[in-house]
Order: sequence, then structure tokens, then C-alpha cells
Amino acid sequence: MQKNNENTVNATITGVGMYVPEKVLDNKYFEKIVDTNDEWIMARTGIKERRILENGATSDLATGALKDLLESTKTNPEDIDLIIVSTVTPDMFFPSTAALVASNVGATNAWGFDLSAACSGFLFGLQTGASFIESGRYKKVIVIGADKMSSIVDYTDRNTCILFGDAGAAVLLESTDDKNIGIKDSILHIDGIGKDYLNMKGGGSLNPTTHQTIDDNLHIIYQDGKAVFKYAVKGMADVSVEIMEKNDLKSEDVSWLVPHQANLRIIDATAERMGINKSQVTINIDKYGNTTAATIPLCLVEYYRDGKIKKGDNIILSAFGAGFTWGSIFLTWGMD
Ligand code: COA
Repeated sequence: MQKNNENTVNATITGVGMYVPEKVLDNKYFEKIVDTNDEWIMARTGIKERRILENGATSDLATGALKDLLESTKTNPEDIDLIIVSTVTPDMFFPSTAALVASNVGATNAWGFDLSAACSGFLFGLQTGASFIESGRYKKVIVIGADKMSSIVDYTDRNTCILFGDAGAAVLLESTDDKNIGIKDSILHIDGIGKDYLNMKGGGSLNPTTHQTIDDNLHIIYQDGKAVFKYAVKGMADVSVEIMEKNDLKSEDVSWLVPHQANLRIIDATAERMGINKSQVTINIDKYGNTTAATIPLCLVEYYRDGKIKKGDNIILSAFGAGFTWGSIFLTWGMD
């Protein structure tokens, strides 16, 4: 149990924003650079195209998303208390990407930090941000999921290069006295067992950058796709069913499953285990691929702005990623 409903205030999402770069790489592009084809990519992953940031870094994706949020909610950046940036592709090891984003938008009264939980990064960030709101100490908390995956993708490796894209998306968390809305529960997990299956080995304290680490190609994503797939299907489905049972939710009580967008087959398996109809699942993997920490908030923004996610909708967010990290969050949407 990581959340108790006896808190006097709930944290709820009161604003959203997103940023995707303009440049599109479709499956046909990959046919020219590696031994692959559109049919294989669509059938095995569900991805048609992804966006790539040509100039700039993760802070630019995060800043774009936050500016969109600030404009659409008419929020004064000076009122932001805390900025959490979930990412595995920070601009630099230090300073944090959150520091750069804060100064880019003029959040002069905020503090903040980066959070590393790979594809579960947004869920970990959302629970962290919600706890700061529930504590009563902070009023406006920003949680951003942003990754420039193209900066660590090996575009000669057909196993991984077709999977990833770049994007950023942000939410604003505030308190509410309305017990019917907001973030109601979370089940989150971490286990280093995943380190051999999905990692970037070079550049950290284990393998500091040298000519040798570059020659050995250690500064790119390594993934044992088959092994990760097996863990992901089980991990995401189990935790999604667990959060439903814990909150007495039947499949008809769930308005939307908002899953991490890594592979359409993992998403389908999770929905099936939950007894959820495909029409209740948010999908944009076809347009953006796997944008790591950005996938879930990107889905929230698009489905909300399209009028599909509505006030009162019960939503389950679910993710699985490197670490391994995985989990689910149950919330009831509070925005009109
Ligand atoms: N085009 C054509 N063939 C490809 C290919 C591509 N882009 N990528 C891999 N292949 C080949 C493999 O080389 C393999 O060939 P082989 O049998 O001759 O060795 C074959 O396709 C099957 O490979 P496999 O790894 O079994 O494919 P898959 O169906 O498992 O799909 C992934 C590969 C990466 C799409 C899938 O494993 C996956 O999505 N994994 C999990 C990703 C994930 O959830 N990550 C978690 C968080 S980011």
C-alpha cells in the first residue's frame, strides 16, 4: 500500500502540455538504413512512424511541453513550486534537466530534480509529485516525462532503432478536497534483475567514457528484446490486475487503460488480462513509437484534448521499463 485515501487532500491533474518534434521517420526510412520492412515493424510492434529532434536536447522537449501547459492553463511560472523531470536522456549528468527547464520557463521560485526510472519514469514521477501535494507543503507541482531517445539509439541495430522516438509531455498537479477525483492509488516496483536485459553500459561510473567504451559501442541502448518482452507482458498485466482488485474495480468501471507504448502486443496482452475492451485503451504508438518517459503523459494529453478522456473517468496508468521498473496508478480524471 503506497497511498492512503485518508489524506485530507488528493492530488489531481489540473493541466497538461506536450511537445513533439516536427521531423518524422516512417518505417520506409528504416528500410533504407537497416534490413527491415514496414510489414515486420507494424506486425511486431504497432509502430508506423516516430518523431526525431534534430537540433536540441531533452530539456527542449521538456520545456516545449511545459510552455504548452503554462499557456493552456494560464499559469504564472513563478507560482510553480516543484519541477520533476523523468528522463533517461538528461542533457548532461549534471546539472539536472529540471534546472534547465526551470530557467527556460522562468520558474524562479521552484526547486526540482530529475528522476530515472526509464519507461516507468512518468509513473514514479507522478506518485512522487502527488506525495508532495498530499503533504500540504506544495501547491503546484509539475511532472514531465521527456526523452530524446534518438541520442542513445544505434541506427545500425535493427532490433532497437525502429522502436524509439523523441517527445516530452507534462502535467500540473494541485490539491483537491473532492475525494471523487485525483490520484487514488499506486503500486510501483523496482528490481535490478533487469540490468542485463536493458541498459546503456557506457558513460557512468561503471564504465567511464574512454576510446575503448566508444569502440565497444557501449554508449547506446542495449536490449534483449525477447527477454524484456516476457517480463513486460507479465509485469504490466499482473500489476494492472492487482490495482483493479485492490480498488474493487471491475473492467466496466475502468474508462481508460493508459499503458506505456513500447509494443502493441504487450498493450493488447495487458488489456486482455484486465478484461478491458480495445476501445478503452489509449494508443499512439503508431505515431510516436516508444518515447520512454513521455509515452503515458503524451497519451493523456492527446486523449484529453480530443475530448475522449472526460471528467469522472476512472483511469489506470501502467508501465514497464528498464531496471526493471514497473507499476500502475489509479486515478479519476478531474478536468472538465
Ligand atoms: N526487422 C526485421 N526483423 C527483425 C527486426 C526488424 N526491425 N528486429 C529483429 N528482427 C528479427 C530478429 O533478428 C529475429 O530474427 P532471427 O529469428 O533470425 O534471429 C526475428 O526478427 C525475431 O526476433 P524477436 O526478438 O523474437 O522479435 P520479437 O517478435 O520479440 O520483437 C521486439 C522484437 C524488440 C519488438 C520485442 O521483443 C519487444 O517489443 N520487446 C520488448 C520491448 C519493451 O517492452 N521494452 C520495455 C521497455 S522500453
